[in-house]
Amino acid sequence: MAKLWAGRTDGATDKLADDFNSSIRFDHVMYRQDITGSMAHAAMLGAQGIITQAEAAQLIDGLQNILNDLDSGALAFDMSCEDIHMFVEQVLTERLGAVGKKLHTARSRNDQVALDLRMYLREEIDTVVAFVNELLAAVTEQAEQNKAAILPGYTHLQRAQPVTFGHHLMAYAMMLLRDRERLLDCRRRMNQSPIGCCALAGTTYNTDRRFEAAQLGFDGICRNSLDGVSDRDFCVELLSALSILMMHLSRFSEEVILWSSWEFKFVELSDAFTTGSSIMPQKKNPDMAELVRGKTGRVYGDLMAALTMLKGLPLAYNKDMQEDKEGVFDALETVKMCLPVFAGMIRTMRTLPDNMRRAAQNGFINATDLADWMVAHGLPFRDAYKISGQLVARCIAEGLVLESLPLEVYREYSELFDETVFEAIDLDACVERRISEGGTSVPSVEAQIAYVKEMLSV
Ligand code: ARG
Repeated sequence: MAKLWAGRTDGATDKLADDFNSSIRFDHVMYRQDITGSMAHAAMLGAQGIITQAEAAQLIDGLQNILNDLDSGALAFDMSCEDIHMFVEQVLTERLGAVGKKLHTARSRNDQVALDLRMYLREEIDTVVAFVNELLAAVTEQAEQNKAAILPGYTHLQRAQPVTFGHHLMAYAMMLLRDRERLLDCRRRMNQSPIGCCALAGTTYNTDRRFEAAQLGFDGICRNSLDGVSDRDFCVELLSALSILMMHLSRFSEEVILWSSWEFKFVELSDAFTTGSSIMPQKKNPDMAELVRGKTGRVYGDLMAALTMLKGLPLAYNKDMQEDKEGVFDALETVKMCLPVFAGMIRTMRTLPDNMRRAAQNGFINATDLADWMVAHGLPFRDAYKISGQLVARCIAEGLVLESLPLEVYREYSELFDETVFEAIDLDACVERRISEGGTSVPSVEAQIAYVKEMLSV
């Protein structure tokens, strides 16, 4: 196949070099963006009198036909083409003859690839955001159903204070909300048009970059032509937003794995989102959560590859930048697979509140409340803290819990103690009293749920 860029050289490249150089096997997914970008370009060339209006109409019509034929499958991608941009131009010229060769006036492939990728990724972001919303809805629904289920909250994976399962789940909802904001924020910055940068320096033709940008749904244009074709920070930003999202899903996965173990048994995953073992008949494995945790590293890898690819590149375009696409596509594929699976797993997960409560009854997670009771009765916190710790040690020595330790024993440590201490260390009361904004009490969790629902509706 003669190269469209044959000129200085005869374009007779080695087959090895062709295969190595070509990107069509992965950039063909951007055919729609490439073609609509070219249609806007042809319209601009016509409107500005750079080509005639009749020529512009012919180009637009020819491009529309290529788009239809690719959509219907009547036209197949020619994998011997260097990339999607060359492929479309080649087919157009084959079909239209000389006028097809006018399309590439006042633009460069460097503009095209930057344009197509931005257009492609902004749509992908919308898809990911829709999946995040779905997961948020599933998490919020579970939180609502379990807003009063008490379990131990942990620090250092040691039982710390009582929390509700709804409260615990809503922590993840807040993270996911921020993930969504990061994605939308990145989309906003990405939505500036690089078309018309013309390889690097701008052009001598009387082009109208803003016309093209508006036609293609951009908020504005890249204001420096060197930057427009060189910058791939929109890929890095997206990859980092996806990495952070996966990091959240991975932590959540880790907890689901722990919760569904016999050691915790706070939840039972549905059969639909678990697997069995080929040898151990009793097994029910949380493979979905493990795979999400496992795939997180792969998305981080894509981010690191993009950062590393860019770090030493002089302006403007360098072929290294062709490496931008596979990583970002891989990360998107991965995230788009993980999110719906994760949502399904959470939605169908059965909670076991009795087991949660049983765990909460051990581990002295009301020791802080005991100290707070003494503070309310006049002791400085540090003294109260110490006595509470001594009482815990006494319970451990006697195989008791704070609720079952007799009042006489309490009084050995402080004369202040009376019967009301038992009301203060009751698990339900401990949760009920945590009314501070963002805290674990039922009304506080309800407020968090209402907030997330409101954010989901906008
Ligand atoms: N296939 C290239 C890429 O993906 C398109 C831009 C190529 N430009 C160039 N002058 N070689 O980055």
